[in-house]
Amino acid sequence: MRNRAYEPIPTSCPTAWTTEYRPEDARLRDLYDKAKQSQWDSDIALDWKQDVDPERQNFPDMQIPIYGTELWRALDDNEIATLRQHSTAWMLSQFLHGEQGALLASSQVVDTVPWVDAKLYGATQVMDEARHVEVYERYLREKIQLTYPVNPELKSLLDAILRDARWDMKYLGMQILVEGLALAAFQFVHAFTTEPLLKNLTHHVMRDEARHVAFGVLSLGDYYRTELSEAERDERVEFTYEACRLMRDRFLQREVWQTLGFPVERCVELTLTSPAMTEFRRLLFSRIVPNVKKLGLLTPWLRERFGELGILAFEHGQADA
Ligand SMILES: [Fe+2]
Ligand SMILES: [Fe+2]
Repeated sequence: MRNRAYEPIPTSCPTAWTTEYRPEDARLRDLYDKAKQSQWDSDIALDWKQDVDPERQNFPDMQIPIYGTELWRALDDNEIATLRQHSTAWMLSQFLHGEQGALLASSQVVDTVPWVDAKLYGATQVMDEARHVEVYERYLREKIQLTYPVNPELKSLLDAILRDARWDMKYLGMQILVEGLALAAFQFVHAFTTEPLLKNLTHHVMRDEARHVAFGVLSLGDYYRTELSEAERDERVEFTYEACRLMRDRFLQREVWQTLGFPVERCVELTLTSPAMTEFRRLLFSRIVPNVKKLGLLTPWLRERFGELGILAFEHGQADA
């Protein structure tokens, strides 16, 4: 047997053996039924025979953070083509790693969550996430022909979620924050890519993810509103802020600039100040903020922090579920 590359992550994830099998929550059962009916097979749903040129403008070049700057103007056509390939590979690789995080976290949820409706629904999510890992890995390998390692900020958030022993923190971290942000990023990809296979793939993944976010909002809603002490709630509020900060900083593509030999700090600075990227980073939180509010976590302290991040205005958006 060959050696496989993996990293052991020590966790303390207690298993809850339920003794009550009868359905309790009709909304969760409804979501479970929808999940069963919406299963799809990537070999059938997606046209993998489609040719993809990873160096073509499959996204508007405008979304490359240094677009239009002096660094961009200094590039020749070949260098622009390479940058497109790397930029797409980086973004989709982070989706791939995030999907593995979701696969592992949702399987932990099946184990730790105490009630049966959530265990059954969680099992459908495990299958969904396996499929998402499968399609992003295949697309990267066959079509983009390049994969990037996991970004350190994303990995540290995923690790925190996997290590935490409390089921509600897994929901909050994964379903509400990581998946809420992913959903907004997928919407962006779906709206702007001109590559038909990626558009269709994203469309299918998004439909699953919308259910996952709804699952988190439904599952946590009552619990957070009725069963948390003030200290417990404050801990979740701080975790929410810390996760949002980490996720905002993960879209700087540092690894791409390093790999291609660009001046890294200058590129990061351009990414932080470019109007298009600033708007993109803001939009990523459009799904998270209304859901955080619905869960009762948008305390005066967090409002102030969200105000500083420029994302408080999203509180008036529609919550999921
Ligand atoms: Fe997923
Ligand atoms: Fe998901």
